[in-house]
Amino acid sequence: MRRSLAADASAAGPLAFTFGCWYTWTAVGVAFPLLGLVLIPVAGLLAQGAYEAFPVLAATHVATLAWGTMTIMGASMQMAPALLGARIRGERTVPWQYALFTLSVLGIVAGFAIGDLAFVIAGAAGVNVASWWFLALIASAVTSTGLKRAILSPQLPVAFGCYVLVLLWGAALAANLRWGMWPAALSGHRGVVVHLTLGLGGWFGLMVVGTFYRLVPLLHGARVASRSRGWTILWAGVFAIAAALVGVTLGVSWMLRTAAILAAAAFLFFGWEVVHVLSHRRSGAPDLNVSHWYVVVAYSTVLAGLAAAWGLGWFATVRPEQLGACVVVLFLLGWVTQTILGQLYKVTPFLMWYYRATIPDVMAISRQTALYSPWLGRVVLWLSNGGVIALVIGLWEHAALVAQAGAGSFAAAACLLAYLLAYRWVPAAVRRSLVFEWRWRIS
Ligand code: HEM
Repeated sequence: MRRSLAADASAAGPLAFTFGCWYTWTAVGVAFPLLGLVLIPVAGLLAQGAYEAFPVLAATHVATLAWGTMTIMGASMQMAPALLGARIRGERTVPWQYALFTLSVLGIVAGFAIGDLAFVIAGAAGVNVASWWFLALIASAVTSTGLKRAILSPQLPVAFGCYVLVLLWGAALAANLRWGMWPAALSGHRGVVVHLTLGLGGWFGLMVVGTFYRLVPLLHGARVASRSRGWTILWAGVFAIAAALVGVTLGVSWMLRTAAILAAAAFLFFGWEVVHVLSHRRSGAPDLNVSHWYVVVAYSTVLAGLAAAWGLGWFATVRPEQLGACVVVLFLLGWVTQTILGQLYKVTPFLMWYYRATIPDVMAISRQTALYSPWLGRVVLWLSNGGVIALVIGLWEHAALVAQAGAGSFAAAACLLAYLLAYRWVPAAVRRSLVFEWRWRIS
């Protein structure tokens, strides 16, 4: 195994760092292990029910902005040339955009960690500007492809729209916490519910579904069962988001319950589609992408069950905050994180294949199945999911030690993944057995 991986590395040519990689590398090499490590003390707070304590908010935004959003930004920039056949216009501005986004996220996280909202507000301004900049770059790449833009999944533009809204709303929430100019937004967790609906449901939820439809059938050489199912998921998601926003603004409980039932339907349809594509894939070789998608199906089923049960009023005796915290952990550290992990193993070799196939040394493309299924990746899979399950049990049972053990397992998975994908090249580069190269390009 070790010899074959070494052979792959030497056949892969120089190790190139491009703009798109900066984001992915920061997300995988810095944000994800940091998330695991901050989760250990935060798990104790969560188990005690302190869901909105400042350290918890710091951890939440490492997960959402630094881990999830940075991965999406890196993937969009790296994948656009391969999937759209378009270059990112204005790519020379990307290092500045990266610097502004990264420093601003740091400002938000540090501000929450030390409890100083001035930092959070300054960071919010920077994150908004850097994100509009990113969206403008992607939009110009898409429009430059003319008719080909139809190959974008319809969920993706809606996800981008929700992203703009969640950032603006996040900035407003931070300003409200600092100056208290709109107390009604804070009462009954209204402001947070709007923020979660747009950020988790709209931005991450629809982004994952759209990415699945665009990418996974292509990676596995299988067709989706029907394109109309993708539209059903989109409409169920959009109506769920709209019903949740109206329900929470007007304080209408049946609308919130309808939103939960629509979200449950979207999860079930999505899980069904994922199973269809995976069961029709061409190759039966071991593939971590497939394992992670099956885990996503399991999370989809559990989340659908919880949403439907709440919508039907079966959790009448449970505190909504406690149930909400468990759902956020299952969604963010389970559903979203497992999707990202699965794509990382597949997309990087896929892109390598795509770019190398455009140059004459096609023979250098690795045919090793181990490329998609490194054994350390299996350890990451089990540790991360075991961690999430223990964390949720700890939250549900108010058992701080169980929650912290879960966070510890998740942190170990995050550090292993960082070693596997972000740092394993370092010893070879230090020994000079791997040629190291900077490329001033997206791809
Ligand atoms: C400009 C960027 C952002 C800012 C300034 C911001 C700000 C805030 C603030 C002030 C709160 C606490 C609200 C309260 O307790 O009343 C909060 C909570 C939260 N935010 Fe954000 N947010 C941003 C982006 C995001 C994004 C993109 C997501 C998800 C994709 C997200 C997910 C969350 C979650 C899950 C919570 C609840 C955390 C908890 O209760 O422990 N945020 N955010």
